[in-house]
Amino acid sequence: MANKGKIGYQLLCIALLAVIFLLVWQNKNAAGLESPTSENDMAVASQALDPTYILNSTVRDSFDLPFPTEKGGMPLQEALKNRRTNRLFSDKPLSDQQISDLLWSANGVNKIDGNMRTAPSSRNSQEIDIYLFTKVAVYKYDAARNYLFFVRAGDYRAKAGLNDFFSVAPIALVYVADLKKMADYDEAGRDFYSATDVGFVSQNVYLHCASENLATVVCGYISREEIANLLGISNGRVLLSQPVGLTK
Ligand SMILES: Cc1cc2nc3c(=O)[nH]c(=O)nc-3n(C[C@H](O)[C@H](O)[C@H](O)COP(=O)(O)O)c2cc1C
Repeated sequence: MANKGKIGYQLLCIALLAVIFLLVWQNKNAAGLESPTSENDMAVASQALDPTYILNSTVRDSFDLPFPTEKGGMPLQEALKNRRTNRLFSDKPLSDQQISDLLWSANGVNKIDGNMRTAPSSRNSQEIDIYLFTKVAVYKYDAARNYLFFVRAGDYRAKAGLNDFFSVAPIALVYVADLKKMADYDEAGRDFYSATDVGFVSQNVYLHCASENLATVVCGYISREEIANLLGISNGRVLLSQPVGLTK
């Protein structure tokens, strides 16, 4: 009798272990962490696991950004008090979340209705595109999709600007006016309003960096022609560059 009870108890334990194993296995699959089957699956899995995926990935691909943090940060008056140019960059990487938050602050969509942006633009042209230069690739920020569109592989940070600190900072934002979106302006209007609109984007980045304790400097000392060639821009105007990183 005692033996039967013992066997029954052992069977119960085995059944319980099997149920636990099944639940853990199902959970793993639901989180999309099953063994990757293709390069794209592998990229998605690594992105989910590595918080600095953007700056480390060698996969030549476009990808979704983490959802931007639209709350919190420093009170505006404090951010204004802290806003400054800081050229002392650390080469430490930024996380995907930090990059997503930065791009959203720069010129992300903050009103879904009409895809309105965090930065104003003349006649709501929304002509300022942001290119992200990292040590592995160059991407174009797609604000509407919260997405990084792959432009080209390679470390072109030192081409984003002519000051030495461009090769130290982990990322640089390069602002380009898409002139197709300014077709109803004359030449003088395109010059004036693209130069005005980019200032708002840059100031958003300055204030975001002040709030998040990041170093940044907006730069006009850049080779516009070289950048335009690198990015394959035909109907656009390269305006300014702005490296961002942790402070040294
Ligand atoms: C349009 C513009 C272009 C600039 N270009 C450069 C540049 O190429 N290199 C640089 O080191 N600083 C550049 N700066 C940063 C200025 O030198 C800096 O904003 C100024 O000294 C004031 O310092 P603050 O930003 O801390 O108030 C630029 C600033 C602006 C607004």
